Amino acid sequence: MTNENHIIEGDCVNVMQSLPAASMDLAVTDPPYLVNYRDRTGRSIVNDDNPERVLSAFPELYKLLKPDTFCVSFYGWSKIEYFANAWRQAGFKPVGHIVWHKDYASNSGYLDYHHEQCFLLAKGNPPKPPVPLADVRPWEYTGNKNHPTEKAVGVIRPLIETFSQTGDTVIDPFFGSGTTAVAAAFAGRRYIGIEIEPEYCELARKRLAATHAYMRANSRPRSFQI
Ligand SMILES: C[S@@+](CC[C@H](N)C(=O)[O-])C[C@H]1O[C@@H](n2cnc3c(N)ncnc32)[C@H](O)[C@@H]1O
Repeated sequence: MTNENHIIEGDCVNVMQSLPAASMDLAVTDPPYLVNYRDRTGRSIVNDDNPERVLSAFPELYKLLKPDTFCVSFYGWSKIEYFANAWRQAGFKPVGHIVWHKDYASNSGYLDYHHEQCFLLAKGNPPKPPVPLADVRPWEYTGNKNHPTEKAVGVIRPLIETFSQTGDTVIDPFFGSGTTAVAAAFAGRRYIGIEIEPEYCELARKRLAATHAYMRANSRPRSFQI
């Protein structure tokens, strides 16, 4: 299973229960932020109003990871207590925090929102990377044409390159349009993506087909937002 790339349509909690324990080298994921998000055109995110269905993914993810590995998880800052409790209860230890600076405000309230964030979580005691990644980074905006919260390949790829090795398998249980897999493919990793929405699975399959075709046609492929 982990020697091949897979895009699996379904509820990640159910799907992960069917995968072999201690088989994944890295998790990189961007779960619903539990904020009832709706973009300007009315698009929303499944389970963004359902903490139980989102947070119950983390114990399954913990089981799937090999000992001494990382899980990189984006999260919504306003629901930090939900995420932090779920990560700790699953067994993860926070070992770092990354903030991306946006040169535009993605929203506005008491403050203009100029940042995005994730925690670096450890299962066990993974070794430090030879070159540490800076924990304040520039954001890249995708335009969200295909998916309401599409992350940039250029944002995800350094995470994969820093916290896994060539040939490793990276899992993303909240796959969306498949950005984690595009970044993993460019970085020479295998991927397993799980997404509940058939439309986004189809989109991810098309993106990955285009990524692999581009890589076959170019001997030293540069990564970009496919
Ligand atoms: C924040 S988005 C991820 C976007 C992704 N990073 C990208 O670049 O396209 C979260 C995704 O999780 C999916 N999702 C929500 N609950 C899920 C579940 N229980 N199992 C699998 N996917 C789920 C949503 O449909 C949504 O596409």
